[in-house]
Amino acid sequence: MLVNSKKILEMAKDMKAGIPAPNVYSSKNIKGLIEVADEMNCPLIISFAEAQEDLMDLSIEEMATLVRYYGEKANVPICLHLDHGQTYEAIERAVHSGFTSVMIDASSETFDDNVAISKKVVELARPLNITVEAEIGHVGSGENYENHELRDSQLTEVEEAVSFYQETKVDSLAIAIGTAHGSYVGVPEIDFVRLEAIKNAIEIPLVLHGGSSSGEQNLQTAVSLGITKVNVFTDFLTASMNALKETDDFMVNWNRMYEEQKKVLRSYFKYLNTEKIQDHKDWQDLIK
Ligand code: 13P
Repeated sequence: MLVNSKKILEMAKDMKAGIPAPNVYSSKNIKGLIEVADEMNCPLIISFAEAQEDLMDLSIEEMATLVRYYGEKANVPICLHLDHGQTYEAIERAVHSGFTSVMIDASSETFDDNVAISKKVVELARPLNITVEAEIGHVGSGENYENHELRDSQLTEVEEAVSFYQETKVDSLAIAIGTAHGSYVGVPEIDFVRLEAIKNAIEIPLVLHGGSSSGEQNLQTAVSLGITKVNVFTDFLTASMNALKETDDFMVNWNRMYEEQKKVLRSYFKYLNTEKIQDHKDWQDLIK
């Protein structure tokens, strides 16, 4: 079934569990990941970023059709999420084509501009029962993690996160606590003290971007301290690329690439404790 992410993220928060939010790019990839969610009886957030329209040559509308097709057949809650929405126009298209959740990412803008556009997105999405995620602080890329002074991430300030939430009333908040997008050059250091302070100051579910290669233990700790949604992409691509090294038979590789991605999702469900959500008192009502 297709759901927005509000209820499942709240359940995840109560259960100290995380929901993986992998980025997707093909029908086989979407179908395979939803099959794993069904097999493990876990909710799943399927993400498609605005920038992937060009990269993957797949429009927001085409993605909505594909995910709705497979998502509606699933026996577990599936959320269709626009990742890193950077323009209001793309978010409008996602909202009107059937996405159940959207992210407005104005984290590179000034605080006031980030607040203004995030509020506008909340006004658009909330009456349609679509969840809104925004980002405060900025999660950059994984380059330069051998020298933390040079990294392009901007860690989230607790006071800023609180004011941002009070002004925008978004449903969930992506925060920067030391992870980064893509592969790391160097080692990420996650600021768990900052995470805990933000969690204690704001009641809405918190989101971690740049989940890949952050380390199983780091992710488990992050989830135990209040992260409820973990965005992941690079790990899925790396697993596929590694699968290609074993044979040059196209069809074997084609299928193996996707089988490897399914294995990655199974491990994420396990170490983010996603399976625990099945014990939540509202789970049965949601999947009825
Ligand atoms: P990774 O590719 O580092 O896992 O990050 C994905 C992400 O945060 C998408 O929003």
